[in-house]
Amino acid sequence: MQDMIVNLEQIKWDFSEEEKLQSLGIIVRKPIAPELDQVSRWIANHFSAYWSCEAQVAFSKAPVGMWVAQRAVENELVGFACFDCTARGFFGPTGVSESARGKGIGKALLLRSLFSLKELGYAYAIIGGVGPFAYYEKVVGAQIIAGSERNIYNHMLRYPKNKK
Ligand SMILES: CC(C)(COP(=O)(O)OP(=O)(O)OC[C@H]1O[C@@H](n2cnc3c(N)ncnc32)[C@H](O)[C@@H]1OP(=O)(O)O)[C@@H](O)C(=O)NCCC(=O)NCCS
Repeated sequence: MQDMIVNLEQIKWDFSEEEKLQSLGIIVRKPIAPELDQVSRWIANHFSAYWSCEAQVAFSKAPVGMWVAQRAVENELVGFACFDCTARGFFGPTGVSESARGKGIGKALLLRSLFSLKELGYAYAIIGGVGPFAYYEKVVGAQIIAGSERNIYNHMLRYPKNKK
């Protein structure tokens, strides 16, 4: 699991992605404290207990260090992205529910989060412990950080293999 770096000066804000989502009834917004339980359970169910823990840390800040995507009418969460959470300047974790992928939700959440990091004063963002390298390279021009195989997750305590 390597990390990637993104030059925040090169990120162009693209509202068209969110407008497209709105026309599908999907809104992108910051969650608020009363949603901590529902959001962290949703992340644990769809992804992992580790990501749920990271999300709970995002909720310890005001405003919350996370963006979510939601089907507004159905009152249903479809994606999330944390920033400045597990380490300063980090993007992630992030995830979109399987049935909602391929609509631009991941990209909208990523762009929102990178702009939040820029507003906080960062010049570069680090995407920690990347899975889909090609996705980050394509959407925001991220590049793998040489030597980042040993990163912040190196000695992290892991659950037994049968546990998510
Ligand atoms: C990665 C993930 C968040 C992407 O979400 P998504 O909503 O499906 O992505 P989008 O629809 O916004 O895709 C934006 C663009 O990236 C492309 N893309 C999406 N996933 C990709 C992948 N794995 N590899 C390369 N390109 C990818 C899309 O084709 C799209 O391209 P386009 O703008 O030319 O149409 C989602 O697949 C996911 O939740 N994966 C599991 C969790 C995960 O791996 N999280 C990242 C941990 S570091």
